[in-house]
Amino acid sequence: MLNFSFHNPTQILFGEGQIGAMSDSIPADAKVLVIYGGGSIKSNGIYQQVSEALANHNWGEFSGIEPNPSYQTCMQAVELIRQEGYTYLLAVGGGSVIDGSKFIAAAAEFDGEPWDILAKGAEIKSALDLGVVLTLPATGSESNSFSVVSNKETNDKLPFASPKVQPKFAVLDPQVMASLPERQLINGVVDPFVHVMEQYLTYPIDAKVQDRFAEGLLLTLMEEGPKLFSEQVDYKVRANVMWSATMALNGLIGSGVPQDWGTHMIGHELTAVYGLDHAQTLAVVLPRMMHEQRDAKRGKLLQYAERVMGLDISDEEQAIDLAIEKTEAFFQSLGMKTRLSDYGVGADAADKIVAQLERHGMVALGEHQQVDLAKSRAILAACL
Ligand code: NZQ
Ligand code: ZN
Repeated sequence: MLNFSFHNPTQILFGEGQIGAMSDSIPADAKVLVIYGGGSIKSNGIYQQVSEALANHNWGEFSGIEPNPSYQTCMQAVELIRQEGYTYLLAVGGGSVIDGSKFIAAAAEFDGEPWDILAKGAEIKSALDLGVVLTLPATGSESNSFSVVSNKETNDKLPFASPKVQPKFAVLDPQVMASLPERQLINGVVDPFVHVMEQYLTYPIDAKVQDRFAEGLLLTLMEEGPKLFSEQVDYKVRANVMWSATMALNGLIGSGVPQDWGTHMIGHELTAVYGLDHAQTLAVVLPRMMHEQRDAKRGKLLQYAERVMGLDISDEEQAIDLAIEKTEAFFQSLGMKTRLSDYGVGADAADKIVAQLERHGMVALGEHQQVDLAKSRAILAACL
């Protein structure tokens, strides 16, 4: 196991009715800016619950954070904060609203051009405090320090990370999932599945606790995920999927182990250029990444084949092939498409995406930094 330092300071308020309990977690004298997206919270009752919870607080709102939040929209919120003197941010939404709010929290206190946080990795010295009401379990953003923000003018989709933007608390009420469209439910199973894979499917390092946790999350997502789509979906199912998504990227299973993230870096470029949903890109790229890296990942691929996919691994090559096939079949069984051509993306994607990767310095991806541009090109060509 590698050395590590693990600290997750986000308070989790989990369960039905917990939105009402969050007011104690926000300082009484804070001037709160509620940040949300395109308005789904207005029609599903979440806005109402948030308003009631904030009855004794001084608060205002900013709406319109779009999926794959844009730098341009986030900067409008920064302007409002500077004009009105807000001191605390409450993100009410999915990964996009939370990521946008993290960027806003840092940009509002940033001395200089905030785009540098994304483009140059500029140091974040301080940020506004942030709380979260999660409405779409998928990204894990509610209890981590990562954020991904897009510049719609330049086709950049760039990540940053800072402990200063880690949410102080996150409300996880599984009932918010009731209004999620099928497409977002599918995304909400695939994204955490791939988060676990990025931290698990590397090389063996005798990290038995992390491995068993990771396998437990994968098995839970495979067992419970498909049940989300039945008409009579149970609270217990939603609760298990929601908690799996948070646990998949809250730092725990990634502590002390090598990490990959190559699928994500290629996926972010596909979203930036073609507008595919984040999880859609992952379902396309991951099976091809597994195939391309089958030698580097052999030990873990066999462990995954046996313990997660329940395969006989006596014929190693066959077991690896089957494990990759079953992974893709699982995504498809949820209703997720797994080929670029399914989204109308053609053969020019390899050139375009490789150029983006090069422009962003993503020239040595993966746990061994072995996925160079030639390998990324081969992966993309296989994604068609
Ligand atoms: O805009 P609103 O009205 O909120 O509608 C959203 C949006 O249209 C809707 N939605 C959310 N909750 C709903 C709902 N509709 C009905 N009922 C509800 N309860 O769903 C749509 C998609 O929302 P979005 O936030 O974009 O989805 P997701 O949570 O999948 O977030 C994706 C973003 O997160 C980034 C992705 O790159 C992408 O930009 N990621 C962030 C990560 C992190 N911070 O750790 C890690 C991930 O790998 C990922 O990169
Ligand atoms: Zn992801």
